[in-house]
Amino acid sequence: MAFFITIEGIEGCGKSTQIGHLARHLADRGEQTLTTREPGGCPIADEIRTILLHPGNAAMAPRAELLLYAAARAQHVDEVVRPALSQGTTVLCDRFTDATLAYQGYGRGLDIDLINRLNLIAADGLTPDLTLLLEMPVEEGLFRARRRNTDSAEVDEGRFEAESLAFHRKVRDGYLQLAAREERFKIIDARGDIDAVAEKIRRTVDDFLRSAPGNV
Ligand code: TMP
Repeated sequence: MAFFITIEGIEGCGKSTQIGHLARHLADRGEQTLTTREPGGCPIADEIRTILLHPGNAAMAPRAELLLYAAARAQHVDEVVRPALSQGTTVLCDRFTDATLAYQGYGRGLDIDLINRLNLIAADGLTPDLTLLLEMPVEEGLFRARRRNTDSAEVDEGRFEAESLAFHRKVRDGYLQLAAREERFKIIDARGDIDAVAEKIRRTVDDFLRSAPGNV
């Protein structure tokens, strides 16, 4: 049985590291798994990612930003996510529709109902089976994200890290509101030791797989 698992959280919460750990754990369990991310995951969406995250594009209108995320998602769903799921591969995706609600909705203040409708179109109705929300204070996440961006080649992807603390607080609160509303969310305390966080994630995913319909 293939599942669609997404990982969400504020900047610097450790998603990329943790998704790697989780992919190895699922492979050890014998699950066929594909790891991907948004925006991106295929060449056309990767090109859109470059436009979206480049710090030089500070003048981008919020509606243009919203539509570019949607365009990247539509391509990624059709080219990568759906085909993998239909071949029985579990998909681990670093961000998905909830990121658009948190960032463009709660963060930028665009209309939530409009984003829900757009998400439905972009994702072609696909919703995650399980969403892991990696939770930590905004100050801690941003400190980690900004250090990473100055240390690495990701220096060209800093448009969102440059946003104010107030913006990131709205994003975090948005994620928490989404998590409170839908049962597919599991909140993971992502502060502290990487291995301890990885263990919490493994336990959560193992519990999910044990009780998932089709796996009982
Ligand atoms: P990443 O740094 O986790 O790869 O995500 C890229 C950035 O894009 C991050 O700042 C969050 C932002 N983002 C949105 O604003 N809306 C979205 O729909 C997605 C998928 C990401």
